Amino acid sequence: MSAIATLTNHQVRLAKRPVGTPTRDNWSFTSEPVQEPSAGGVLVKTLALSLDPAMRGWMNDGKSYIPPVGIDEVMRAGGIGKVIASENSKFAVGDLVSATVGVQEYMLIAEDQIKRNGMFKIDPRLGTPNQWLNVLGMPGMTGYFGLLDIGLPKPGETVVVSGAAGAVGQTVGQLAKIKGCRVVGIAGGRAKCDWVVNELGFDACVDYKAGNVKAGLKEHCPKGVDVYFDNVGGDILDDVMTRLARGARIIICGAISQYNNTTPVQGPKNYLSLLVNRARMEGMVVFDYADRFPVAVAEMAGYLKDGRMKSKEDVVRGLETFPEALIKLFTGENFGKLVLQVADA
Ligand SMILES: NC(=O)c1ccc[n+]([C@@H]2O[C@H](COP(=O)([O-])OP(=O)(O)OC[C@H]3O[C@@H](n4cnc5c(N)ncnc54)[C@H](OP(=O)(O)O)[C@@H]3O)[C@@H](O)[C@H]2O)c1
Repeated sequence: MSAIATLTNHQVRLAKRPVGTPTRDNWSFTSEPVQEPSAGGVLVKTLALSLDPAMRGWMNDGKSYIPPVGIDEVMRAGGIGKVIASENSKFAVGDLVSATVGVQEYMLIAEDQIKRNGMFKIDPRLGTPNQWLNVLGMPGMTGYFGLLDIGLPKPGETVVVSGAAGAVGQTVGQLAKIKGCRVVGIAGGRAKCDWVVNELGFDACVDYKAGNVKAGLKEHCPKGVDVYFDNVGGDILDDVMTRLARGARIIICGAISQYNNTTPVQGPKNYLSLLVNRARMEGMVVFDYADRFPVAVAEMAGYLKDGRMKSKEDVVRGLETFPEALIKLFTGENFGKLVLQVADA
């Protein structure tokens, strides 16, 4: 018996679709034997998983930018893994890869699935595996292309970002500073606000849990908001809309305040501010920029190396903690990019 045939793959599957906030009974825990890769395929051992707000959307039935996860399917998740068996000349045993590994300990990827799966080798010289899930990974790419391609920030302009201490938010704010903007974050709690100002160099941060967002924006954005990078939607989007500068750009990246709603999504009440200010809002999906990721990664890795960019991850451990860990995103318990460590390298 080969060493691989002795391994067991523990998995987390979607058992039923949630109504409101997911609970443990939305998931089932299964295990099956690990198999050797077929010709052209690879076997990846999961090291760390990216826990993302988008996972909540993938649990819903219905049309989106990506098909929903089916009932009894292994939950979709991006992650970093190590190749432990390979029948493919492009991947060697020991390579670290980024891939859609799923919430499971091992992922067998057939040759014809490698591209579809988004699997590529990561360069550990550019960043740690967790940084490859954060500023060098999907959230970092979201911040990079959302801010630069859609936000079109100019030096001296005021950029506001919500979810400021989270994965996407930390990239957006730091990148906007590098590009010469005034940056104001919006985050929940003093600790997160202090961190983005004192550690990341934001000019100010409004603690939305402490009170009046509109008053905070009035104080910190005296010339109005030129770019709003929206991660949260809901009331905060409405508050920012009251402070837009002429020609403002709003990037609709996400609306986490709405993802567990059991009532219809709350749309912006103050949208006529777009008319008055000749402003626009535009949605973005990070996967549309995949061809340009290498250029963005090289730029971001340069900032990491020269100290202009920091990357904060919040690491929780153990596949079995997945149901509770995911909820941290919606309660704001994560401080930085939420990573689920599944195994040590
Ligand atoms: N369009 C795309 O391609 C794309 C790609 C990646 C991510 N996204 C979106 O980007 C957003 C941020 O994702 P992320 O991965 O960076 O997550 P994250 O910011 O690391 O974590 C989520 C954060 O959202 C905040 N939050 C939760 N509920 C909230 C509420 N009701 N009101 C205000 N803030 C709330 C919490 O921070 P506080 O403690 O500050 O409340 C929480 O820590 C999400 O909306 C996500 O769906 C979009």
